[in-house]
Amino acid sequence: MINQGKFIWWKHGVIYHIYPLSFYDSNGDGKGDIPGIIQKLDYIAELGVDAIWISPVYLSPMMDFGYDVSNYREIDPVFGTLEDFKNLLSAAHSKGIKVIMDMIMNHTSHLHPWFIESRSSKLNNPKRNWYIWENADKGLKPNNWKSALGGSAWEYDTLTRQYYLHTFLKEQPDLNWRNSHMRKAFFDDIEFWLKMGVDGFRFDAINMIVKDNHLRNNPPFFGFFHYKKTWATRNQPVSYAIVRMLRKLLNKYENIVSIGEIYTLPPGSPAISASYLGNGTDSLHLTFDFSLIFCWWNAQRYYKCIRDWYKHIPVKGWPSIVMSNHDLSRSINRFGTGLHKKEKAKVAAALMLTLKGTPFIYYGEEIGMFNSKIGKSQIKDPVGKKFWPFYRGRDKARTPMQWNTQKNAGFTEGSPWLPVHPDFIENNVESQKENPGSIFNVYKTLIKLHKEHKPLHAGEWKPILRGKDGVLAYSRTWEHEKIIVILNFTSGNKNIKIKISTQWKVLFSTHKPKGEPLNLRDFVLLPFEAILLER
Ligand code: NOJ
Repeated sequence: MINQGKFIWWKHGVIYHIYPLSFYDSNGDGKGDIPGIIQKLDYIAELGVDAIWISPVYLSPMMDFGYDVSNYREIDPVFGTLEDFKNLLSAAHSKGIKVIMDMIMNHTSHLHPWFIESRSSKLNNPKRNWYIWENADKGLKPNNWKSALGGSAWEYDTLTRQYYLHTFLKEQPDLNWRNSHMRKAFFDDIEFWLKMGVDGFRFDAINMIVKDNHLRNNPPFFGFFHYKKTWATRNQPVSYAIVRMLRKLLNKYENIVSIGEIYTLPPGSPAISASYLGNGTDSLHLTFDFSLIFCWWNAQRYYKCIRDWYKHIPVKGWPSIVMSNHDLSRSINRFGTGLHKKEKAKVAAALMLTLKGTPFIYYGEEIGMFNSKIGKSQIKDPVGKKFWPFYRGRDKARTPMQWNTQKNAGFTEGSPWLPVHPDFIENNVESQKENPGSIFNVYKTLIKLHKEHKPLHAGEWKPILRGKDGVLAYSRTWEHEKIIVILNFTSGNKNIKIKISTQWKVLFSTHKPKGEPLNLRDFVLLPFEAILLER
């Protein structure tokens, strides 16, 4: 565990993202749960990560699979009990693994007692203003704001004859963060978990929590998703102010991390993502920028994304590196068309684990899990149900973890809530562990190197080859230690001629043996080779 002196765990460690419904089912109901995560802690420790971030496990009617919370202080029975969660905390901590929860501040579930009360009457209702209610004749919406999941963001409530705002599903009413009473109550809920000992939070859609006070229209946009041109519903100055308040709250506890999910389009807007880091000490500790996710397979594009991301990080700030999550296609499916996906997954692993910034690994990425094909009748994601067949939703990247060759890939004794990917017979943790060249073993080795070598977890990043001709090379330097990383994004041999003298030897390569001397001025980089060199 990297956590001494200037090596702060969340800066210099590796974080593993668990989608709990799909990780491991301990009780045979077909759904992953907290005791299941506890049972797999040895696996997580073996992988070598420093922390787990768990998608929401709070009480929820599961309209959006936990991202609709009806009680922020309770664990949903699907996942277990509060006792189970406490056990997870202590079991993880005893293995040196931190636990990060998901925190959804933009909205609650429509079944949260606050919303039930808010909805109950218009007048003399202390909670009315905890959500965003607005007048408009039925059928005429208060303005043109759209839900990120399709359709209008306003829902008419027949009881009190006003509209309420929902940036996501209508079962996810938006909280009014301008209301100080609500803010206080919400911050108390956050503190409930801090007092229990959680190590941080990933803040869901944090750049959307405050909207234009005058409810002005967003510019017209006719598209599938209404992410674009949404100045009135994103990145409002008050959002930044609330983030700073949040940081003050978190600062009362030691060693806490806050990670902001910054939803923007075009996907990945490094300037905006970085803006939530504030001056590097007063806002979020880390923010996600999704540029790398949308680079597809092109070394030059990766280079540009990385350069732009770093350019915007404040001097005292720190970047995160993320290539997959539960809302998007799995990374391996995005690595261009055609063959060599597994080779590419190894190059991508090397990229993610050698760039400057905290890497986030999405469960299954470490064995190169693919998107699953989900039939119409199997769709669980409300977005997929709504837009089928044009968009089949997010289930494809949320299918059960592939543990072994047994029934249901060893995920459950029961009937899995989403189908297991049929490739699990060849593609699973158990068989990859046995294969020294597997994606799993590449991850495991690189995570170990990331931990052991200061240049890799703390060093400065400097480009050497900027992706032309399909090769990306850069150095990571910490004091007098330097590591050079060279990645071949193509299926061809590359003649590399880098004018750096001194003797180099292989620290890691997907193709060459460790310790092999190498002359940077002239050598052949093999197809899809990822190589790390030390002096
Ligand atoms: C972003 C989350 O990642 C996604 O899964 C969820 O549907 C929305 N925010 C709403 O909470």
